Amino acid sequence: MIIRVLGSAAGGGFPQWNCNCRNCAGVRHGTLRTRARTQSSLAVRGSAPHDWALVNASPDILAQLQAHPELQPARAARDTAIAGIVLVDGQVDHTTGLYMLRESVRPLPVWCTAQAHADLTRGNPIFGVLGHYCGIEWHALSVDGDEFTVAGVAGVSWRALAVASKPAPYSPHRAAPQPGDNVALVIADRASGRAALYAPGLGAMEEGLWQAMQRAACVLVDGTFWSDEEMIGLGLSKKRARDIGHLPQSGRGGMLEWLERLPAGTRRVLIHINNTNPILDEDSAERAELTRRGIEVAWDGMEIEL
Ligand code: MLT
Ligand code: MN
Ligand code: ZN
Repeated sequence: MIIRVLGSAAGGGFPQWNCNCRNCAGVRHGTLRTRARTQSSLAVRGSAPHDWALVNASPDILAQLQAHPELQPARAARDTAIAGIVLVDGQVDHTTGLYMLRESVRPLPVWCTAQAHADLTRGNPIFGVLGHYCGIEWHALSVDGDEFTVAGVAGVSWRALAVASKPAPYSPHRAAPQPGDNVALVIADRASGRAALYAPGLGAMEEGLWQAMQRAACVLVDGTFWSDEEMIGLGLSKKRARDIGHLPQSGRGGMLEWLERLPAGTRRVLIHINNTNPILDEDSAERAELTRRGIEVAWDGMEIEL
């Protein structure tokens, strides 16, 4: 199984169009040792060479497809290697790319929870709008840990686990999160039995998720913010990381403490990185701290083979 990181940044991307924070200005002017990053998405391939699952449909999907020619195998006049789309939530940065796939010659096969489906039908009715184009073929994701498969993506088994986070800001129940608003995915290679756990939005650690993280060969987890008050400190927002469903890396109970407790052989990767996060600067003290702890920072094009 191959996991290809198509987009490693959080909503807004890096640089963000209207942002002049130290990181965004630095990447724009080439004065910071870093790389630009697109918004949050993976592609996953099993034993069939031309069939990939898209995990989240980023607003940057068209640029991501151009950057990864293997996703266009050109077997017919209209073709794609995307066999199905799995959504971890209904957030704008994970779903807007569905609009860019509206020319599909068949309804888009989409896996998401009932909660995400409701939000994408009412609060942000993407699914209704797509009904006027290719339509979608919805596959309901259960958060009970039931195994599912994405048709065409051979040799890969999937499970979704509810995570404590937040539904999208447009959701009618933004203030009252429900299990199923956000999921983590356990993506396993059937032959090797090795699994990756992907959780780009993770507001708090819960027992079921923690158990699954300890069993994974690789974790790709919420790397949005270094500190809880990151956006407040920069004068960019009044909200803490935890208020918007993201566990910060530093501080008591932060992501670094959890990653420290994983089995020694676990590959640890931070993903869905906000443009304000100092870990994007490869010369920062925070990045050095990650290196010391054996934690990687995802980048667009990163490949993980399991
Ligand atoms: C999030 O991860 O909290 C959201 O994607 C933020 C956003 O929609 O910009
Ligand atoms: Mn996001
Ligand atoms: Zn910025």
